[in-house]
Amino acid sequence: MKIAITGKGGAGKTTLAGILARIYAADGYKVLAVDADPDSNLASALGFPEEVMGKIVPISEMKDLIAQRTEAIPGLVGQMFKLNPRVEDIPQRYCVDHNGVKLLVMGTVKQGGTGCICPEHAFLKALMSHLLLCTNEVLIMDMEAGIEHLGRATAQAVDAFVVVVEPGRRSIQTLKSIKKLSEDIGVNKVFAVGNKIKTQEEKDFIINFSGDVPVLGFMSYDEKVVQADILGVSPYEKSQEKIREGMAIKEKLEKSLRDL
Ligand SMILES: Nc1ncnc2c1ncn2[C@@H]1O[C@H](COP(=O)(O)OP(=O)(O)O)[C@@H](O)[C@H]1O
Ligand SMILES: [Mg+2]
Repeated sequence: MKIAITGKGGAGKTTLAGILARIYAADGYKVLAVDADPDSNLASALGFPEEVMGKIVPISEMKDLIAQRTEAIPGLVGQMFKLNPRVEDIPQRYCVDHNGVKLLVMGTVKQGGTGCICPEHAFLKALMSHLLLCTNEVLIMDMEAGIEHLGRATAQAVDAFVVVVEPGRRSIQTLKSIKKLSEDIGVNKVFAVGNKIKTQEEKDFIINFSGDVPVLGFMSYDEKVVQADILGVSPYEKSQEKIREGMAIKEKLEKSLRDL
């Protein structure tokens, strides 16, 4: 199972990614959580201790490794380098493990001009396709708002794009643009999850406005999630309600994929 979680900033992508990863791990699956959001904070939602988090180096910052694998010369602009660097050993070598979940932090690459590709891009791209095409673990990807940076083949290897939406027009707008982008690259497995829900009206709003995107379920607004974020622990450890809601979402997702 390879799930990519996306949606507007602040909607609850990292929260849902953390909960689903812990649920799959508790079920006995090998889980690889991939933090692919440049604003990376999945480690904290997975409950990684501070001393482990402090030691995590995002892959994009491993300059020597990237230079060696892409055969690029660090710092030299406009050179030739390998577009298909060797990456198979990276997940095993550079992930950190806690509570049965392995975490890989991709990091961010500053975009130069449009269409620019640098060794860091090539490396992260190769790693992302390797993860999606060659891993047989449960993969939970915490992504940024869009999916446009995923290539067609990579996006098609994702089993489900789960878009987290808050009750509000802007969140729905992000859902629509992700749905549109995914159609453009031939992906139809897009689902929505409503988050921070306080009333039935808010659920109805999301169901009514998500159009033809199936809504897998809802996570209620929960002070315990806020509390978990303040304490830097996983919402999985703080809120039984989130675990129940997460399990229902997981089951609905699996059923929807079987019925496709
Ligand atoms: N169901 C919820 N109830 C209350 N607060 C929530 C809930 N889901 C997320 N939050 C809070 O909202 C903020 C953004 O959530 P986060 O998962 O980091 O969003 P994203 O990854 O989409 O940017 C965090 O402070 C988080 O604790
Ligand atoms: Mg996030």
